[in-house]
Amino acid sequence: MTEEGYADIVRAAAGALGSDERGDVIKGENAKPLGPTSVFSAKQMRRARDLLARLYALRRAERFYPQEHPAVAQAVEEFAKVLSQFHEEGVDVPITFYEDELLLGEQLLAEDSVLFDQLIRDMTAIGAGSVVFGRGVSESEIQRFAKIISADPETVTEHGGVTAMAAEARLGHIAITGVAVYREPAVREDADAHQLAREAYANALDLMRDLERLIRSGQAINVPRVRGTVRSLVDNVLNNRHATLELAGLKSFDEYTFYHMVNVAILSLALGSMITHDYRFLSTLGAGALLHDVGKMVVDLEVLNKPGPLTSDEWEQVRQHPIFGAENTALTPGLDKAATVIVLEHHMRYDLTGYPQRMPPRKQHLASRIVAVADAYDAMTSRRTYSAARAQDDAILTLVRNAGSALDPTLVRLFVGLMGLYPPRSVVMLSSGETGIVVSPNPHDVALPRVRVIAAADGAMIAPVDIDLSDDPEGRSIERCLDPAGLNVEVSDFL
Ligand SMILES: [Fe+2]
Repeated sequence: MTEEGYADIVRAAAGALGSDERGDVIKGENAKPLGPTSVFSAKQMRRARDLLARLYALRRAERFYPQEHPAVAQAVEEFAKVLSQFHEEGVDVPITFYEDELLLGEQLLAEDSVLFDQLIRDMTAIGAGSVVFGRGVSESEIQRFAKIISADPETVTEHGGVTAMAAEARLGHIAITGVAVYREPAVREDADAHQLAREAYANALDLMRDLERLIRSGQAINVPRVRGTVRSLVDNVLNNRHATLELAGLKSFDEYTFYHMVNVAILSLALGSMITHDYRFLSTLGAGALLHDVGKMVVDLEVLNKPGPLTSDEWEQVRQHPIFGAENTALTPGLDKAATVIVLEHHMRYDLTGYPQRMPPRKQHLASRIVAVADAYDAMTSRRTYSAARAQDDAILTLVRNAGSALDPTLVRLFVGLMGLYPPRSVVMLSSGETGIVVSPNPHDVALPRVRVIAAADGAMIAPVDIDLSDDPEGRSIERCLDPAGLNVEVSDFL
């Protein structure tokens, strides 16, 4: 799809604002379209298609004709000819085959990934993850390379794998490496659920830090990394829901935006997984949730972190972050277009009185409504420069009060069922006067979760004891949430 095509999707999704106004919004000075990071020029990117077509033809010729047939020699010659155009420009040609995608260097070949899906499947089936065609490659090396990539996967395995075959064939100027595995296995024997969830969380945070750096310097979002991160979050939410949800309560005052985006992704996926386990839907939801505030990364930091009230100009800048973000994601080839809809719609509100306004009003997408609930909850429970964090039970009550106006009432009901009235990590005072930390919600009673008691009624710290309030012989219940900062309790130390 062309860039105009993506921009049109954003405009269509933004709805019919006044035409002049819309032009300002889409092309406003603050909106910074992302540029490519690759060293390859647009011309070289286009030429990659020609090269891939020749590579595909080369593999076919080698498979269907005997080695000495003129069709093979011709295919080698034609492939070498396109390759030499890159080499004459002083660059090697690295091509990566990763899952459903093709990359030239670090740049995603979005359309070619669709056109050459058979080639991607064939190459990954023999374990070839990437190939670098270096300058100085000879036609005889290309011919030996063609013999390797046209072999059946079984034959390749018998010969010890594609890299062993490449070493044996002495391909001096062609380097083949194995298929890269970015995906964290959902179940690993040497790590428990908490460890896996922590790794996924830390990776997602790193991605957010990197993303801000790229976006503030006008560079493109690293799409394969976003996808890998989303997959790992989806796997963790589906397989280790409690361990992952516990982490979604992590906060950072200094890196609020990064933690917020990761938390919203986890909370959205947990809520989404109560509706469906459809992997495609959850992947889209995860990508949209993870990137929902990406537009804030082009808003002035002084405005975002201003302690006092915003001027009307500043407020207008903040209100445009869904549009800045949607423009960036829409212009990023390879990113799920439905994720762009989430980025655009997350502040639109269930009753459509939020922003950006669409005329005629159009219902928020289900995924956007899910992200809106998660966003509201995480924002309320975080400390900001302009507001204190609310206690978890207060935040849950506020969600309930906004059900039907700002938020989808059905989703709020599901979210309260998922998190409980006292979500994991809440520090609570029990009716006995003891202090505890909520470990996991009770699916049958939102007010009676499992709690780790950490202090006696007189305030003295005790060896932690886990109790299930729904089955407590002493009949204890929760009085209220407490502020962990006020108690000098580091929640993470007890989980
Ligand atoms: Fe936002």
